[in-house]
Amino acid sequence: MTLETTPLTPQFGVEVHNLQLADVTADHLFPELRALFEEHSALLLRGQDLSNEQHMALATLFGTIEDRKADERKKGEAFEVPEVSNVQADGSVSGEMDLHTLNLKTNMLWHSDSTFLPVPALTNILISRIAPSSGGATELASTRAAWAEMPEALREKIRGRGISHHYAVSRAKISEDLAKLPMFHKWPAQHWKAVLTNPVNGKESLYIASHAYAVDGYDEAEGAALLDDLMTFCTQDRYVYSHDWHENDVLIWDQRAVLHRGTPWPYDEPRKLTSLCVSLSDDDGLSEIRL
Ligand code: OGA
Ligand code: MN
Repeated sequence: MTLETTPLTPQFGVEVHNLQLADVTADHLFPELRALFEEHSALLLRGQDLSNEQHMALATLFGTIEDRKADERKKGEAFEVPEVSNVQADGSVSGEMDLHTLNLKTNMLWHSDSTFLPVPALTNILISRIAPSSGGATELASTRAAWAEMPEALREKIRGRGISHHYAVSRAKISEDLAKLPMFHKWPAQHWKAVLTNPVNGKESLYIASHAYAVDGYDEAEGAALLDDLMTFCTQDRYVYSHDWHENDVLIWDQRAVLHRGTPWPYDEPRKLTSLCVSLSDDDGLSEIRL
């Protein structure tokens, strides 16, 4: 079976038309799906009716499911698929200025997931469970396409250097109160190469995020200005795909080569996505970006 695809943008991303993700196993169709992931950096599949168990089974094909709350669970408590959602336990939605909503707003800063963890993410598999009536798109930006077209003068400033990342940095950009919460201080700063090489096809991408705060060899202000310039270049319209969600849409992207962000929606409406990140392995280039 050949997977039928159409491009999401001229630069990156494909929609896969003739595939139910529930049918994918390690031997059946996963090699084809993984090849598209390496080549195009982002995959969209619509009309996927996946249970949480099927979501986990799919994620496991990519590698080890990330578990940021392992230390918070009591013995015997099972892993639960993380939700990116403003729907609270009683069914109401969280208030616009609640810390919970503010944390969702930090997702609206361009980032790659988990660059603040000792092992960052290879992919995020995001499924729409409740879509708002308007807004709430998730946007992707290709740092592979952007890096390939970046003027040499800017490339020179970052090539060969490392970037430091911390979870609380992105939170502080939205709210100092939010940034103080212990959950954003569980991990020490991480330090990754700024330019990452895909081990399958040798294509380079810039590895940056809202969590980044310092660049080797520059003082704080110079580093921050450079990170801003790089982010601005990479997130120009020609490198961006914006996805308006419908329930049961699935987006899968390569965190090594793609930035993402959420966008605002009417905060009195529910919006729910389920999200599974898969951790980078050495085969995916983890050891290559360590400094
Ligand atoms: C995420 C994320 C953005 C959104 O799930 O990691 O950043 O659109 N989501 O909610
Ligand atoms: Mn994210």
